[in-house]
Amino acid sequence: MPTVLAVETSCDESAAAIVRDGRVLAGAIASQIEEHARWGGVVPEIASRRHLEALPPLIERVLAESGVAMVELDAVAATVAPGLVGALLVGSVTARTLARLHDKPFLGVHHLEGHLCSAQLGDPLPAGPHLVLLVSGGHTELIRVEGPGRYRRLGRSRDDAAGECFDKVARLLGLGYPGGPAIEAAAAGGDPHRFALPKGRVSLPGGGFHPYEFSFSGLKTAMLRQVQALAAAGEPLPVADLAASFEQVVAEVLVERSCRCAADEGLATLVLVGGVAANRRLRHLLEAQAASRGLAWRLAPLAYCTDNAAMVALAAEQRLAEGCRSHPELGVAARLPLEEAGRLYEPHPCF
Ligand code: KG4
Ligand code: ZN
Repeated sequence: MPTVLAVETSCDESAAAIVRDGRVLAGAIASQIEEHARWGGVVPEIASRRHLEALPPLIERVLAESGVAMVELDAVAATVAPGLVGALLVGSVTARTLARLHDKPFLGVHHLEGHLCSAQLGDPLPAGPHLVLLVSGGHTELIRVEGPGRYRRLGRSRDDAAGECFDKVARLLGLGYPGGPAIEAAAAGGDPHRFALPKGRVSLPGGGFHPYEFSFSGLKTAMLRQVQALAAAGEPLPVADLAASFEQVVAEVLVERSCRCAADEGLATLVLVGGVAANRRLRHLLEAQAASRGLAWRLAPLAYCTDNAAMVALAAEQRLAEGCRSHPELGVAARLPLEEAGRLYEPHPCF
């Protein structure tokens, strides 16, 4: 039974977790959100400093809570790409140092591979290939997953990621950061059909529209125009209706295109992961639409939608089972396509 300790520091959550045989023995997260909220977004320099302070006590906590001793670990892992370089470095250096001190293998993990694994922290996935809708602050992607490390991206956002759009629209409506939870709270009781908003589409060169590419920049502009028009008319902003209408159109466009993609690809299971997967309107719509089209579905458990280390530990555990190890001097990278995650386990460090 492999046991893996992992840390996650790619953005504004410091996290540590221990997973054994696919089960979470302990997990802890220190969010920096309040500190970044003052600036309306993540400040990279602050993020790195806070990770440096937060990580050692988090690691001590998960070791104590799980009752696992360092000597019992089979590997130590950290997210190494993509993300904020300074923030990633803190986690990576910490994990590599622990691995070296205790003579354990080190595994660098691709952040999105972690998100993909998060669904498996709930009910087991049906066997065979499946389609994953990954919606986070930095990514909106439809990924065909054949097995660990075997991915093909079938759709993505051409501009803003869905989560980024939530964050920007929340700012426009005078709500807090991060925007997703703030919009969700503001939308409660709002009318999701009051405002007609565009479902951004991506043109194909030969005419028509791409069936499962996304574009959220037009929706952002439409929200701005709507708010300006209401303000010009001297009306108080109907924040609940605006938030609910926005949430509804984002959920519809994500679910419609995902279901279409699954059907075209002959995939019987649709999986939802990433920070935006915490959105209840999106979760309910995906369940309803998947059921009505005869698709099986899996949702990442709420606790594992936004960034956490359990998903990173699970991704590392699965790679370890395939014989993967990272070079002890593997660095970090701001960008790395998911399809290239296997490079993290090459005998020579890819960065
Ligand atoms: O996966 P994540 O924690 O970090 C990245 O890898 O980006 O995703 C963060 C994103 C933010 O944009 C946040 O606003 C969004 O997920 N988010 C939500 C909700 N909770 C977090 N969006 C919609 N509804 C939510 N409940
Ligand atoms: Zn993430």
